[in-house]
Amino acid sequence: MSSFLESPKFPVDIVNQAAEKEKKGGGRPEHWEMVFWWTRKPLASARAVLAAAALPPDIDVHTFVTQVLKAKVNLKGQVENVPHRENPSPPPEWRERFAKMKVLDPFAGFGSIPLEAIRLGFGEVVAVELLPTAYVFLKAVLEYPKWAAERGLGEQLVRDVEKWGKWVTEQLASDPDIRELYDPDVAVYIGTWEVKCPHCGKYTPLIGNWWLARVSKGSSDETEEEEEEGAKKKIFSRLAWMDWENGTIKIVDLNKELKTSQIKAKVNSKQGYIEVNGTKKTVRKPNIDARRETATCLHCGNQIRYISLKTGKHTIEKPKGEETEWYVKNAVKQWNQLLEDYLNGKIDLEKLLQSPARPTLLAKVKVKEGDLQFEHATKQDTEKLWKALEKLRKMWGVPDIPIEDLWKYTSGTAGNLSIIVWGFNKFYKLFNPRQLLTLVKLVKLVREAGKKIEEEKLREGWNSKYAFAYAEAIITYLTIASIRTVNFNSVINTWYSGSFLTNKVQSSLSFRGIAMTWNWCDINVFYEEGNQYSFPGNINSIIRGLKYLLSCASNGTRRVRVLNDDATLLANLENEKFQMIVSDPPYRDDVPYVELSDFYYVWLKRALSDVSDRKLVPRFLGEAFFKPIGATFREIRTQWEEFAPREVGLNIGRLKYFKGREASDEEARNYFIELLYRSFLSMRRVLKDDGMLVTYYAHTDPEAWEELISAGWRAGFRVTTAFPVSTESAQRVTARGKAALDTSIVVVWRPGVRGEALWDEVYRDALVAAEERALELLRAGRTGVDLFVGTLAATLSAVTSRERIVGVDDVGGFVRERAYPAAARGLARAVSRFVGGREAGEEVRDAGALFYMLAKVLLPWSGRARGRVMDRSTVHIIGFGTGLDDKKLTSMKIVEKVDGEFRLLEPRGEERSELVELLHERELDPSRPVLRSAVDALHLLEYYAATLDVKGFREQYEKLRSVNAVLVDEALRLARVFSGRLVPSVDPERRLCERVLSYVSGAGTLEGWLGGA
Ligand SMILES: C[S@@+](CC[C@H](N)C(=O)[O-])C[C@H]1O[C@@H](n2cnc3c(N)ncnc32)[C@H](O)[C@@H]1O
Ligand SMILES: [Zn+2]
Repeated sequence: MSSFLESPKFPVDIVNQAAEKEKKGGGRPEHWEMVFWWTRKPLASARAVLAAAALPPDIDVHTFVTQVLKAKVNLKGQVENVPHRENPSPPPEWRERFAKMKVLDPFAGFGSIPLEAIRLGFGEVVAVELLPTAYVFLKAVLEYPKWAAERGLGEQLVRDVEKWGKWVTEQLASDPDIRELYDPDVAVYIGTWEVKCPHCGKYTPLIGNWWLARVSKGSSDETEEEEEEGAKKKIFSRLAWMDWENGTIKIVDLNKELKTSQIKAKVNSKQGYIEVNGTKKTVRKPNIDARRETATCLHCGNQIRYISLKTGKHTIEKPKGEETEWYVKNAVKQWNQLLEDYLNGKIDLEKLLQSPARPTLLAKVKVKEGDLQFEHATKQDTEKLWKALEKLRKMWGVPDIPIEDLWKYTSGTAGNLSIIVWGFNKFYKLFNPRQLLTLVKLVKLVREAGKKIEEEKLREGWNSKYAFAYAEAIITYLTIASIRTVNFNSVINTWYSGSFLTNKVQSSLSFRGIAMTWNWCDINVFYEEGNQYSFPGNINSIIRGLKYLLSCASNGTRRVRVLNDDATLLANLENEKFQMIVSDPPYRDDVPYVELSDFYYVWLKRALSDVSDRKLVPRFLGEAFFKPIGATFREIRTQWEEFAPREVGLNIGRLKYFKGREASDEEARNYFIELLYRSFLSMRRVLKDDGMLVTYYAHTDPEAWEELISAGWRAGFRVTTAFPVSTESAQRVTARGKAALDTSIVVVWRPGVRGEALWDEVYRDALVAAEERALELLRAGRTGVDLFVGTLAATLSAVTSRERIVGVDDVGGFVRERAYPAAARGLARAVSRFVGGREAGEEVRDAGALFYMLAKVLLPWSGRARGRVMDRSTVHIIGFGTGLDDKKLTSMKIVEKVDGEFRLLEPRGEERSELVELLHERELDPSRPVLRSAVDALHLLEYYAATLDVKGFREQYEKLRSVNAVLVDEALRLARVFSGRLVPSVDPERRLCERVLSYVSGAGTLEGWLGGA
């Protein structure tokens, strides 16, 4: 029994386009703006995968695209709308099918997959998550909207979130402790850390970015030229920065100076200058460089380097044999310790403020008529932070302040957890005193609102169960609004000068780690105009998200459940069976979810619990924050302490800490593989025998792919098909410099592996399967990564259908050394068959030629690079298939390494000069050619074709062929592949190959040559 998802007719390209639409600013699902979570999957692809998995292979594709995916596709095949905005409206017989199925996502995260399962109307949807934080978010995304929609309470819920959000704001605003801390007309304060200079004794701010606004008009495509690195010459709508004069910050606002909203300027952010109307102005470079452990005092200009831990003396050179630390780090650590001492009543404020490092404010941002105005911050502004401190000290000891410990390890390769080395060892230290005081009060108010809502509903005559459930929903949304406030109000968020107007504060968690930050934002939580990060602004984001979720819920599944459980055990699903499991397991060391989301957890717990006897006690969603022990309970302090060893992830720092001993990278990897395997085992247990499992997995590294395949296979699943879907945001991909193969792969699995076989037997099957599948995919118009992954899946399908392959122990190595080559070979055969012609069925055999051909067929031509560039893992993946590694390929001059990337050495143009250059780069001398591979033969022939007439060409061709017949014939095979539609028409080699073929045939035209075919 096959499915539409396993059919080559599944419209991957349209699904990917639909998914792409939701990554851009205006296309994002509204509820994603409620709060940040990592690696959320686009709704469009989740929907397409779920529906296609449930439908038979022969359905009408058009109906699928228009009624399920809801994509509007124009004549050019482009998706024009943002499909997730509409609920699916499948035909009744499809809907009936969905309604009979039960779906599980055991790694639900923020719930993209279960949300779409709800919208499609699956019979029952279960979302499992290990982390309480995600569990709470899943309740808000999946359960409450449905609960409210079913009872006709949707609109009331929206109104009440609005009403009680307002109530909280008003209460906060009328708190005299808080009101006096903010200037009513300031939207955002930009602050940083300052340190006491060991040379001159003055406090110097450490400024990571002097820019306040560098906003260009329109898109970056309008950049006129880029003469030198880092320089942009274009029209800017806003240019403002900070400078340092007479011992204080000064604001330079170029728009104000020039009285214009359009500045034509050349800005070089690297070298730190800007040129307008022929005059150059400097914008300072950061005076802090944490990587090189250096800072510069703005007062005296001296370098700040090392402090001796023994003598406390500062030195520029690292003294030998003496323990030192970077002065700046040491100073920030001291602040963190002294802050704790102060709050605990051990030292006074004066002593604290003598700390060698302290937070300080640099600038104030106001919003006037939609435009930003900047002012430098004064001493009085910074003093408000100390005022807040005194208030905090008075309330110290109440359970509202998050005094929980941060994790105690950094994570090696994983996302950056290294903030702890700066002495940030308790969560409250990640906020400046004003931020902390405001957040503490905010959370307390949310708690109070919960009581009032319940009372109100009881007074209105609701029964107690409903009143409580309703209050729980509202308070959860208000809590999420508070979490959003926490996220944009810490000393680990950043001011982003590049984007438009008010969209300038970047959340504390938008990266995959928490890092030390210079220049952070302190938001006026009351300031409304244009301030989307104030508390009222955050309530608005929640309302927009909630409205969206309510519209999704209206489409309705019968039953939805969110479970706080461990995917490796699925203990809450003891006796259940599912028809489908669709899931997105964590990708190796990509995100340390447990630790990072503790930043939310410590606040969530406070807003949703109650306080009794100066302790937190359960109220709403108590199961997330407390563990039952007999008749009583224990508070879960942090997620990391409770759950870190159970997170499916690769994290050596974590492993060492919990094992209490040293551990190798290999051991950390094995630990991860074991957890992944156990989760596959659990999934197998709860999946029906005729059910289907679909996994999403990022694909940046062939090793990761092997880990996934071996985990699934060992657990009794066989691969049936696979294809890439676009998932990660563009920002991330470019940030990591990954090329074409960096995207998620969807793998479709079925239970049931049988029998054993010898590799030779399996290889034969695998090769045939790969060739047939590749041909099928080529005929269906698939290209690039789609084609490669699809072909590989056919190979894997042949391999994993056996329970055991005799003589294979190391499954990972096996996939790399056997499965990849079989896929490459099968693909090469299919390509030859696909282009057809006289010698159909023949194949390219030479390893170099095979690599070159696969790279040309699989990778896109980049207009910018005028050719193909690939990252190391792409080279490896194609390389495994051909038995060549990057070293060998470099020595054969098939690829060249430039700036950490690999360039395929191919013609950049059709002109003679360009071919001369290519031969030169490839160290091929046309007067005395020595052929290393068929690629050499091809490039020589192309050179002859570009420089000689037919007669001259034929002479050279015959000469070359007389000594190198095998390689020359192989080159002609390549030429036939490249002259066809498998290579884009912008690629000059396509036309060069057409010319080579026509000259070889002697007829001088392509038609003449093909005539005999
Ligand atoms: C890649 S994310 C899923 C993202 C999700 N598909 C979405 O669109 O929002 C993987 C999730 O698995 C969760 N996780 C990690 N280990 C787990 C375990 N042992 N059991 C259940 N969930 C786990 C993580 O907390 C994380 O939220
Ligand atoms: Zn100084």
